[in-house]
Parts: sequence; structure tokens; C-alpha cells
Amino acid sequence: MAQKWRIPLYKVSVDKDDVKSVSKVIKRGMDWAIGPEIDLFEKLLAKYVGVDYCVTFNSGTSALHASLLAAGIRTHDKIIVPSFTFIATANSVLMVGGTPDFVDIEKETFGLDPKLVEKSIDRKTRCIIPVHYAGMACKIQEIAEISKRNKIILIEDAAESLGAKINRKMVGTFGQMSVFSFAGNKVITTGEGGAITTNSRALFEKLKLIRSHGRTDRQNYFSSISKPDYVIMGYNWRMSSITAALATTQLKKIEKLINLRRQNAKYINSNLQKLENVDVLPELRGCRYVYQLNSILLSSSRVRNGLMRYLAKKGIMSKVFFDPIHLTSFYRRIGYGKKLTLKITESISQRILTLPMYPSLKKEELVYICESVKEFFEHKS
Ligand SMILES: Cc1ncc(COP(=O)(O)O)c(C=O)c1O
Repeated sequence: MAQKWRIPLYKVSVDKDDVKSVSKVIKRGMDWAIGPEIDLFEKLLAKYVGVDYCVTFNSGTSALHASLLAAGIRTHDKIIVPSFTFIATANSVLMVGGTPDFVDIEKETFGLDPKLVEKSIDRKTRCIIPVHYAGMACKIQEIAEISKRNKIILIEDAAESLGAKINRKMVGTFGQMSVFSFAGNKVITTGEGGAITTNSRALFEKLKLIRSHGRTDRQNYFSSISKPDYVIMGYNWRMSSITAALATTQLKKIEKLINLRRQNAKYINSNLQKLENVDVLPELRGCRYVYQLNSILLSSSRVRNGLMRYLAKKGIMSKVFFDPIHLTSFYRRIGYGKKLTLKITESISQRILTLPMYPSLKKEELVYICESVKEFFEHKS
């Protein structure tokens, strides 16, 4: 049986408006699929991110898959991705027959290292998918320059960083497409869900076809007698109306949720940075991080694992985000593994630990987390 945590890794922020908006769609008894809520949420999310178009999906993973299909990625195309990310970033490349080209990360933001990205580009490289880790912002400006100079498509994996900014510019506005996730532990959540934002009308239209069977829906398929055509191969990756209604009320409070996350992270990190054995991840100048996760760095994997076990005994859940993708059984089996050396990725993934982070963390819980980390090092010495 799963452990019951005194402080879990995350909690969902839900209020009366969420319940009301979902109930309204349920009670309507109609249009649970392809309802007006989807269009509305897409417009609101595009506006929030500061782009022209948005297409919703049933997960961040299907959104990533769709973005690569829309980008026209084909067998043997090389796609630059980090290995320090959730597995879906790399898997989406395999789903379209492409080859993930794992490039190491840099130590400041744990995102792709722009210098190494530039070095890895060859004539087969078609696309770069940088990941904004944990609500931070990676070195996306440099990577965007490189993608432009080399005429390579840029898809931001911003699954974890909705609302993060660099010099007031939102993460998710630097590439041709950006992918977001509304999975359970994200900044706003619908349980499962995803979206792509873009400024390209052509990509917007293509993504809608890919999402829904390649069908040219001019009117609601379920409530119109008009006959649609099917013009490309497509999937059913649509978000439901109930999910979109929930996404809308979640989005309405995003700034409040981000502020609470930032306050909580500030409390924890300003306390933990006083400890000799802990490194916190500082917010880079000009950036606004949204702390989807709050991770710290320890001196070795032995210390990290010891701290994780100690916190578990105290009822505090922590977790490793992320172990390198290229070292998973599956990626070893398909030819990656040890022959690939990603020094920073491997060093950071051995020392990283993600602590609990959610908007409703209470003062006494914040204190308890900090005191427990401190105690671990006191017991050790
Ligand atoms: C960086 C990253 N990319 C992609 C995904 C996939 O999103 P989803 O879980 O909504 O499929 C996630 C989240 O889980 C993620 O953290």
C-alpha cells in the first residue's frame, strides 16, 4: 500500500469555481465533447502566454507527439533533446520515427547547454526540443538564436513552466511551437491535459487536423448534419469539454498560484541555503520561475538517498526528478546507455532531490520541511 504522507510531494489547488465550472458542463448533459469550453480555454491560454493560437490536447505527451508530426519530422531526422527530463520528451521523437540526439545540460538552469547544442548540429538535425525544468526558464534565448541561424525548428517543452518569464517574456514564446502539460502536479492541472501554442496559422490548422482524425470540422461534428472530409491521418487527442472548463477556472487563478509557490520556495530556499551541505537553485536575474517543482542539490548520491529516506521516515515525500533518460532500460536496449557520456546530466541527476511544493503549504509545514533537512545533517555529523 502507498505510504500516507504528512507532507506529500504536491497537492492540487481546487476551489468552488473549479467545482462549479465542471458541474455546469456535466449538468448540461450535452456537448461533453467538442463543447464551447475548449475554444474558450484555447483563446485564454493563447492570450496568457502572449501568442496567436493554442490547440488543446488530452496530455502533454500527445501534444509533444503532435508538434513533431506538425513539424514534418520523419524517419532518421535527428532531434536534439536533453536526457535530464521526463521520458515523454525523448519518446515523442521515437513516436515519429526520429532519432533523439541527447545533448548535455548546463549547471545554471539545468536546461540544454547552448554551446553543446550548436556543436551537435549536423545535416540530419531537424529540430531542437529544449526543456524548461521545474518551472524555471532554460537558456532559450541563445537556443532560439542557434535554431534561427541553422534553420532548425524549435519546439519548447514548457510542460513544467507555464507562467515562467525571461525579461518579462513568457516561456513558450521563443520557438515555432510550445508544449504545456496540465498533468496532476503541474502549475495548473486538469488531472490530465496538454496544449500547444504557436504564432503560425498554418501550424494551428495542421495541429487541429492531427488532433482529430484528420477531419475538416467546420461545425461541431456531433451536432451538425454537414459531412466532413478526412484529409490526413489523424488521432483522437482531443481534450474533453469538462477538462477544458476546469482548465479555464484553473487558469483564472494562475497568477495567485504562482505567487504562493514563489513565496513557499523563497521560505524553504532561503533557509536551506544556510546549510553547508545543500545547494538551492537560484532564480537567474531577470527571470521569474514558477516552482512547479522545488529541487535542491546535495553533495553525492549517497547523501541524497540518505536524506530522501530520512524525510520519508518523517512523513515528507521527496523524489528524484530526473534520472537520465539515456540510462533507462529501454534507452540502453535501443543503443544509448553508457556509451553516451553526459557529465553534467549524470552528476546532477545523482545529486538532485525534489522537495514538496504546492500553493497551500502552511507555515508550520514549511518550517517542518526545513527543520527536518537540518536535522538530517545534524544526525549525520
Ligand atoms: C518536461 C515534460 N515534458 C512532457 C511531459 C508530459 O506531459 P503529460 O504528463 O501531460 O503527458 C511532462 C509531464 O509530465 C514533463 O514534465
